[in-house]
Amino acid sequence: MRSELELKILLTRQEIEATVKRLAAEIRQDYVGKYPLLIGILKGSFMFLADLIRQLDFPLEVEFIRLSSYGPGKESSGKIKMVWGLRAPIKGRHVLVIEDIVDTGLTTAFLLDYLQKKKPASLRLCSLTDKPSRRKVPVAIDYLGFTVPGKFLVGYGLDLDEKFRNLPDICYLENKETDSRGRG
Ligand code: IMP
Ligand code: MG
Repeated sequence: MRSELELKILLTRQEIEATVKRLAAEIRQDYVGKYPLLIGILKGSFMFLADLIRQLDFPLEVEFIRLSSYGPGKESSGKIKMVWGLRAPIKGRHVLVIEDIVDTGLTTAFLLDYLQKKKPASLRLCSLTDKPSRRKVPVAIDYLGFTVPGKFLVGYGLDLDEKFRNLPDICYLENKETDSRGRG
């Protein structure tokens, strides 16, 4: 017997699209006329951010920060590094952080603390997905797409060792037992 990884869909592209629209409507209500600064956390949030801002029909700005907490594989190292920092001042701005997933919460808690020290006019968090069962530090999510189980997810920007970001659906990986003759 050998074990192969099989991709299973958790959230379809249609479900994601509907949820992005719902989040955009919520964000619009709170931010229209405020010229917000949306900060996407690279790399995982790039696809979500790109779809989200196309649903926001009012003036805003976009910035990116790249953080790294993961070594190879599925577990966070817990040590967060800023690989690419802010290129614009945020003092006095209405800042909305755009995340792909809040897992242990360590990355987001670190980032929100870092940004708060720069004295934005307001600071909120929008995350496409939330894995509350894995939380190690509390994180308040102001705009949430989906609550998901504690499985490792890939697709729609999320990766496993840099692979699978290009999948249009959000999937999880499951072990599939096959015998050595390759059946199954
Ligand atoms: P946290 O610090 O444990 O909350 O993890 C935050 C970051 O880890 C996320 O922004 C993702 O980039 C990555 N991450 C957490 N869970 C997953 C997952 O299931 N799939 C892919 N990346 C993940
Ligand atoms: Mg991320």
